[in-house]
Amino acid sequence: MSVVAVVPAAGSGQRLGAALPKAFVPVGGVPILLRAVDGLLRSGVVDRVVVAVPAGQVGAARSLLAGRPVVVIVGGSDRTGSVRNALHAMDGASGGERAHGGERAGTRGGDAHTEDFGDIVLVHDAARPLTPPELTAAVVAAIRSGRHAVVPVLPLADTVKQVDGDGRVHGTVDRSVLRAVQTPQGFTRALLERAYDAAGSAATDDAGLVEALGESVHTVPGHASAFKITTPWDLQLAEMLLARTPEAGT
Ligand code: CTP
Ligand code: MG
Repeated sequence: MSVVAVVPAAGSGQRLGAALPKAFVPVGGVPILLRAVDGLLRSGVVDRVVVAVPAGQVGAARSLLAGRPVVVIVGGSDRTGSVRNALHAMDGASGGERAHGGERAGTRGGDAHTEDFGDIVLVHDAARPLTPPELTAAVVAAIRSGRHAVVPVLPLADTVKQVDGDGRVHGTVDRSVLRAVQTPQGFTRALLERAYDAAGSAATDDAGLVEALGESVHTVPGHASAFKITTPWDLQLAEMLLARTPEAGT
């Protein structure tokens, strides 16, 4: 079973507020997107990567990722749209081209539809450039062991309260049953495609669309280093971590 990783990298990074789209901002001197893709490939369990970038960045992304088993496509107006475009691109490449004797057809023999673009699909935010390759391997191992949808999770450290629009507290949530969810999230390709076919509006994570189908989603332990760079503070944290352990994410 081959594995393809979809990397949504088409956001603008409003909360980061940098001059460049977030995926192209350097961290430790290397663009966030390049670190994220190389981290996936270093896991040793990812065969191909499909990266969704803003329309104006396709050429830049192709140059940045040259020499890697990566396809760059244009993302959508939200994260869900970007992942959907990537899934369509995979369909077009493995189904459509094969049907017409295209260049990918028959390169690996057998059922090219599943072999070319993966029976297992990971979805991994470009904005998580320090994700340990071991986490990616653990997600794929869980899918290979028979799960159809797997997400890395962490327990919450802070007490969580429910508040209203005026900031008044309405109660304390039982934190023991809550988890913060990271990426890469892993799926059998058939289930993820079904989830996106059925998806109505945007979701903040892919497993949410699987849950909406009524299908089970399983968890593996996440990792602190898989945090998402959202704000300037997160970028500083990543810079500091790379300065302390430069081998991380190289
Ligand atoms: N993403 C995407 N396409 C979009 C929006 C987001 O591919 N239209 C990607 C981002 O590039 C990022 C991931 O989804 O890798 C998680 O999104 P987020 O951290 O919210 O990134 P941005 O949307 O870029 O940031 P912000 O919300 O602050 O603008
Ligand atoms: Mg966003």
